[in-house]
Amino acid sequence: MKANTWVSKHFQKGKQVCLVTGGSSGIGLNYARSFAAMGCDLVLVSENRTELEAVAKSIAMDYGVEVETITHDFTDPYGAPLLERRISEYRVGIFVSNAGFGMKGGFPAFSGDRYCDIISCHVSYPTLLLRRILFSQSKEDPLLIINVVTINVLAPTPFTAVYTATKAYLLSLFQSVEAEFSDRPYLWHNMLPGTTDTPFHVKQGVIPQAMVMKPEEVVRRSLDNIGKRIFIPNRMDRAIAPIFRILPSGAAMALAKFFLKRRLGVATGTHGAKEPAE
Ligand SMILES: NC(=O)c1ccc[n+]([C@@H]2O[C@H](COP(=O)([O-])OP(=O)(O)OC[C@H]3O[C@@H](n4cnc5c(N)ncnc54)[C@H](OP(=O)(O)O)[C@@H]3O)[C@@H](O)[C@H]2O)c1
Repeated sequence: MKANTWVSKHFQKGKQVCLVTGGSSGIGLNYARSFAAMGCDLVLVSENRTELEAVAKSIAMDYGVEVETITHDFTDPYGAPLLERRISEYRVGIFVSNAGFGMKGGFPAFSGDRYCDIISCHVSYPTLLLRRILFSQSKEDPLLIINVVTINVLAPTPFTAVYTATKAYLLSLFQSVEAEFSDRPYLWHNMLPGTTDTPFHVKQGVIPQAMVMKPEEVVRRSLDNIGKRIFIPNRMDRAIAPIFRILPSGAAMALAKFFLKRRLGVATGTHGAKEPAE
């Protein structure tokens, strides 16, 4: 099923909104633009107010839809109740859980605070937002849920251990909750991008080297396959995925480490160049 078919059948334009976390950039921005092009009003959430408001203005002008913004930092450990209250003002018909950032390097290379940040952004906030949206949802209203994780979830991945672990949590969470709500008219789409050409890499100081896709193409393929519960947009990744399922865990991790180095050139032979910040 294609997303525009789902939207024209199920989305109540003018009453419901499409909520995109991390909608100011990269993959989230491309989901936001695509749903706006289908006539959906948007609520975009991200951290940088100036960037978010500029994006909202440009989408509203380009597609003639309402675009509201919520500036919120998902690393704020105390801010979740406030964000939940803001979200509950809307009737959400599409939820794109996407906000996130990368963390490549040896396990001891990052500070404890930075690990708290990524766990807050990738674990606590998506959990609480998903709960809030489902809590507020009437039993009859259809809902499309897109969970942006990563191809890394195929195996524990050394040298990006915490990032991968948080994304594996998200996949597990969304799949379990889907099973709990199997009697509801909800469509769940877990999206596993490989290396995608967005600011994500510059922000963590790496340069993608291989198997890179444009975010427009990643999102186009995802929306063309919205009926798939687990979707891998990169064809090469899709071909390799079954190998991970049959390999013993040690071999799967070695393969994951090989691909990490090939794609991002991370120095996986050391514990990272950075010193712990404490
Ligand atoms: N690019 C890849 O190769 C790749 C591969 C696999 C999975 N992914 C996943 O795809 C998702 C989107 O990443 P992207 O590649 O599109 O990167 P991106 O262009 O850097 O976009 C990330 C988005 O998340 C928001 N965000 C980051 N930290 C946040 C925070 N603390 N609080 C609130 N919002 C925050 C950013 O907002 P601000 O700019 O305001 O911070 C931005 O809107 C992420 O979850 C990432 O893990 C990316």
